[in-house]
This record gives sequence, structure tokens and C-alpha cells, in this order.
Amino acid sequence: MVINDDLRSFPFPFGDSQVYKYSNNATPLRPPNAIELTDKYIDEIRLKRELLTNHPERCYQSSSQTLDAQWEIVDLILHNLVGYYPDQFKLEKKDEQWIFTNLQTKENIAFTFGDRTTLEVEPLDFIGRHVQEDLLLMMQRDGDLFLDAGQLCFPANWSLFFNVGMTFKEIHSPIPGFQSESLDDRILQFLMRIEAGTPWGRKNWSLMAGNKLDTSLETFAEWGQARKQVTKENAGKLVHLRVEVQKLFRLPQSNGILFTIHSHMLPLERFIQHTPWLEQFYAILHELPAFISDYKGISLYRQQVLEYLVEEMKKR
Ligand code: HEM
Repeated sequence: MVINDDLRSFPFPFGDSQVYKYSNNATPLRPPNAIELTDKYIDEIRLKRELLTNHPERCYQSSSQTLDAQWEIVDLILHNLVGYYPDQFKLEKKDEQWIFTNLQTKENIAFTFGDRTTLEVEPLDFIGRHVQEDLLLMMQRDGDLFLDAGQLCFPANWSLFFNVGMTFKEIHSPIPGFQSESLDDRILQFLMRIEAGTPWGRKNWSLMAGNKLDTSLETFAEWGQARKQVTKENAGKLVHLRVEVQKLFRLPQSNGILFTIHSHMLPLERFIQHTPWLEQFYAILHELPAFISDYKGISLYRQQVLEYLVEEMKKR
């Protein structure tokens, strides 16, 4: 069968396993690019900027001692943009005077690198408005990692406003089973050993009833209702596979870690066009432990989705 573009470019999250469990599934990132542009670029940039304007506290948080690390993130991302997408982004530099051109949004921004007063918003907030990724900054001190700043427009049911300032383990404490066999500690130790120039990547997946990218904890009452509307008949259109491509970069000067999250969504009916994916996904969803299904918010409609997948398998 022909695999169309939306399937070909979709980040398949399951590897070759038939069961899913929490693990440290990070692998070296190749190519070492923090940013990926898709054909939804303009729509998602517009949505991000709207959310930042209307809900600034929900979408942006920072502590004052993060400015140096924020400039490092600007440096890293701008160079990734012009390096990997030279037709769409330009950067002219004369000492600390930088001019960034975004040909997609048709913007030209001149600023003095390192001088906060030359930008309208903080450096992390500025650069996040030019990429589809959410950007989180973890700072390392006292043998731990702290979420000290972030621009988060497309959270999968969590709150930056609530989590800012927390340690890695505190952030992950709501996840059932994450502490067993010291998984949280092993991942923390792995993160603290990440070196500059050797970034890592991983994928996380979930199901969503509906197609909203902005599923913040604060607005759960609005988007969470759709979970009750899923039926075997409408699951293919209503339920979406949501995959987060997450990347980790050590910042050499500040010793912080940049964590980028690119959220991708595809309706189930598209995802399962490829029969091996349909069969593998059925196996994973069928075997998914109840505590993970509960945490991911799938339990209310898991049975309806399984019935839908069975019907589809009968047709092949
Ligand atoms: C260092 C930057 C990271 C940040 C800021 C971060 C943040 C988060 C947050 C906010 C959640 C949702 C927690 C909630 O329900 O309130 C989460 C979930 C999770 N995180 Fe992380 N995380 C990071 C790195 C990692 C890494 C490196 C791994 C594994 C190697 C990981 C594994 C997970 C898993 C398995 C979940 C549960 C997701 C699900 O079942 O859908 N995280 N993370």
C-alpha cells in the first residue's frame, strides 16, 4: 500500500515492541537538531503566540537567574534553524549585533546578543515564538535538576505554572510506577551526565479524545469532556495518537539542560492505515497495564478503541 506523507513523517513511537512499559528510552540524537519544521509551522506558531498573549502565566515562566542560559538557548536554536533550514531562516551577525530573519513569518528582528533590553520579551520566550517545540530549561545544582524556566503552549495535561521550580523527581512524582526499581533516580543520573555536543532524544505517546494541542491542566474541564463521547463508531476520527518528540541538550556555559518537546497528532483512522501499525498498536493497547492507561487518561474509552481496532483488523 501507499504510505502518504502524513504517515511517512509521523514519528512512530513504538519501536518493534508489542508491550509498553516505562523505561529510559532515550537514544543519541541524529542529526543533532533541536528543531523540526512541519507543514503545520505557520498554524502552530500563530496558535502559540495567541496562547502566550492570552495566557502568559500558563505559557511562560522563568526565574531571574536563568537569563544567561536563555541566551545560550537562543544561540543554539538560531544556529540550528539557519543550519538545517537555510532557505527559511537567515542570521546576520556583527559582533553582538544580530539580525534574525524568519522568511516564513516574514519577520526581521535585530537585537544585541546578551542584552535583554533589546528584545521585547525574555530570550527564551522570544525564540520559542519561532519554533513549534515547547522549550523547557532544567538547571543543575546541588546534585539535582530544577525546572527553572519554560515556554509551554502545548502541554499534555500538566501545568508549567504549578511545576516551575520543582526537581526532576518532583515533576515525575504523579506517574505511577515511575519510582519502582529507582527508575526516576536512574534517569536523573543519566540526565546529569549528558555532555555538551552529545544530545539525546526520546518519544512519548498518548491517546487524546479530540485534536487540541493545547491540553493544559488548567483547561481540563473544557477538553477532557471529549473522552466521554468516544464510541466504537467515531473512535477513528475523534481519537488521536499524540506523540511527543523530546530532545535533551546540555548547555556548555551555564551547565543547564534544554528539553524540547514537539507534539504531533494523527487521527487513529490515519495511523492504522498501515496494517502492521494497526496490529502492533492493538497489541500494545490490549496489554497496557491499567495503571498506565489510567495515568494517560485512556481508561474511560480504551474498550471502545479496542473494539474499533478489532473491526478494522477484520476488514484487512
Ligand atoms: C529533563 C526534562 C524533563 C522534563 C521537564 C519532564 C517533564 C515531564 C512532565 C511535566 C510530565 C507529566 C507529569 C504529570 O503528569 O504531571 C512527564 C511525564 C513523563 N516523563 Fe518526563 N520530563 C523530562 C525528561 C524525561 C526523561 C528523560 C524521561 C525518560 C527517559 C521522562 C519520562 C517520562 C514519562 C515516562 C512520563 C509519563 C508519560 C506518559 O505516560 O504519558 N521524562 N515528564
